[in-house]
Amino acid sequence: MNRRTMIESPKGGVSIKGLRPTNMIVTIDGPAGSGKTTVAHSLARHLGLDSLDTGAMYRSVALLTIEAGVSPEDHESVVALACDHRIDFDWDVTPPRILLDGRDVDDRLRQSDVSEIVSRIAGIPMLRDAMVEAQRAIAARHPRLVTEGRDQGSVVFPDAEVRFYLDADSGVRAKRRAGEMRDRGEDCDVEKIRRAIEARDRSDRGRKDAPLTIPVGAIRIDTGEMSIEEVVNLLIRHVEAWCDSKPGSES
Ligand code: DC
Repeated sequence: MNRRTMIESPKGGVSIKGLRPTNMIVTIDGPAGSGKTTVAHSLARHLGLDSLDTGAMYRSVALLTIEAGVSPEDHESVVALACDHRIDFDWDVTPPRILLDGRDVDDRLRQSDVSEIVSRIAGIPMLRDAMVEAQRAIAARHPRLVTEGRDQGSVVFPDAEVRFYLDADSGVRAKRRAGEMRDRGEDCDVEKIRRAIEARDRSDRGRKDAPLTIPVGAIRIDTGEMSIEEVVNLLIRHVEAWCDSKPGSES
C-alpha cells in the first residue's frame, strides 16, 4: 500500500502526508529579502509541518529594547530584558503568531523602528546563544518543523533532514522589501533599500558569530526569477525526493 497520501493544498498544489518520519526538520537559510519567511510558512502548510520564524524572535527582543528605552549597545541590559520576558508562539494559528508575555506583537515587529535596530540586537553573541537554545527547545516540542533564519542550517540544526539556502540578487530583494512596505502603507525608496541590503549582507557575511553562509549540504536556490509558488513547489519536490530516498519509503 502506498503510505503517501496526496492532499489538496489551499493554493491548489499537492503535498504529502504520512510518508515523512516523525522527526523532520527542514531549514531555510538565506539573506534578507530572499523570501525565507513567506516560503517557510507556505512550505510548512503544504507539507503539514509547523513553521518557525526565528527573525521574529530577534525582532521581539528589539521591541523589548525600544519599549524599555535601553540602548542596543548595552548588551547586558538587552540580554537581561530577553531573559525577563516570555517569548512564545501561538501554534494554534497558521502561521504561528509571536507572543511577548502573551501579547500578540506579530504586526508591531515589522515596523521600521524595530527593523532599524534588529540587526544590532541579533549581533549580540550572548543573546544568540540563548536564541539557539530556545530554537532547539522549540524543535524538541515541534519535531516536524520548517524553520527559517540565517543560521538555521549552518549553526542551529546542522543535522536537519533537508537544508535549503535561498538567494536572490540585491536589486530583486530590494524590490520585494519595497513591495512589502508599500503594502503596509509605508513610503520607500528602492535604491536606498538596495544599498541598505548590500551593507547588511556585507556585515552579516563578515560577522564573527554565526556569519551568513551556505550550510554544508544545503540545496541553494536562486529565487530571483521565480514566483513564491514556484519556489515552494520546487522545495516540496526536494523534500519529497528526500522522503523517497529514505529506506522503507514506498512509491
Ligand atoms: O528575517 P528577519 O528580517 O525578520 O530577521 C530580523 C533580524 O534578525 C535580521 O537582522 C536577521 C536577524 N536574524 C538572525 O541573525 N538570525 C536568525 N536566525 C534570524 C534572524
